Amino acid sequence: MIGSIIFRRAINLSLLISLVLCLTVVLTGQGRSDPNVLPHTEVLRSSAAKHGVRIITATDPAYFKDSRYAAILGAEFSGLEPENAMKFGPVHPRPNTDPHPYDFSVCDQLISFAQQHNMGVRGHTLVWHNQNPDWLTHGDFTPKQLRAILRDHITTVLKHFGTNIYAYDVVNEAFDDDGKMHSTLWYDKPGIGLARQGTKYIEQALRWAHAASPSAKLFYNDYNNETIGPKSDAIYAMARDFKQRGVPLSGVGLQMHVALDLDDPAKLNSLSADIKRVGDLGLEVDITELDIRVKSNDTASLVAQAKLYGEIVSVCIQQPSCKLIQTWGLTDKYSWVPGFFSGYGWALLWDDKYQKKPSYYAMLKALQ
Ligand code: G3I
Repeated sequence: MIGSIIFRRAINLSLLISLVLCLTVVLTGQGRSDPNVLPHTEVLRSSAAKHGVRIITATDPAYFKDSRYAAILGAEFSGLEPENAMKFGPVHPRPNTDPHPYDFSVCDQLISFAQQHNMGVRGHTLVWHNQNPDWLTHGDFTPKQLRAILRDHITTVLKHFGTNIYAYDVVNEAFDDDGKMHSTLWYDKPGIGLARQGTKYIEQALRWAHAASPSAKLFYNDYNNETIGPKSDAIYAMARDFKQRGVPLSGVGLQMHVALDLDDPAKLNSLSADIKRVGDLGLEVDITELDIRVKSNDTASLVAQAKLYGEIVSVCIQQPSCKLIQTWGLTDKYSWVPGFFSGYGWALLWDDKYQKKPSYYAMLKALQ
């Protein structure tokens, strides 16, 4: 008797639960066949891994105290890269005459986060004309002294990180948009003794990096080089020359800080052709700093942005040489875009309240 009452109550309870669940599905729309609703188990990192592609993002430990940020970073991305912490200024803030010329503390926090979340770490960047410390830019060094400083910098940084960093952007933004060498401290102002010898100083930096960390993948990284034109032609010519002569270059980075004008079949075909020709040299092509800036966060802009994110992912996964897609940050809350491009913003996959944007779903869908 008591058993039958308990049984009937249990049946009533389960009917009630079923009814509540049905109402929830109807009212929230969950369960409809909406292409944007993907299984909960799908995240960017696992979806990309099915294509042999790593999906990572640029970050800084300052954001880790934001628990939602840290949760997304650890769950969705299979790697990270210091947005700023490994650049010459932050990592080598004092001259070598100081007892403590280097400061690896911030980068080491990144490596520790990555290790806790089974993520790879990509290094950025060793040779660049921006974010250099005053002691370096105002030091009035001779080419011979600069050569010794750069060699020490590359060697010390790579030996510090050892195998904790699997790839580096060794040289960043060395070409102008017309394909000529950019005039910089490292090239010709005054340079490291290889001024006006074209890509020789890039070759030298790669050789020092390879000697310091023989297993690391070494990249040349640039912007406005994602479609075929004078700049990507110059980079391609350098890559072919390096490959032929056994210079230790593993691949080319396409930063891809882009806007909606890239959503043009001719330009996307050109992106694909650019990746293919570098891949045909036996080199890897990484998309290293992807963000898509828009002028509004209205629905039309976010849908257009999502379409382009999806198309870029599709281009990458169709090319065997494209092994990495990195977004330059994950949330619109922390993005370099509004500070640098007046009137633009909303360039990333999560909004400033950590809601997934249409671009997130478009990327995930393209990775299915
Ligand atoms: O850390 C200082 C802080 O102490 C100071 O109070 C504050 C005042 O302005 O500046 C802070 O430094 C800023 C730094 O970001 C860290 O937030 C610099 O001013 C600012 O210029 C710097 O911007 C970085 C930019 O590189 C510098 O060129 C962006 O965050 C970073 O996203 C951006 O990244 C580059 C890639 O390395 C290479 N490709 C292009 C890409 C976008 O510009």
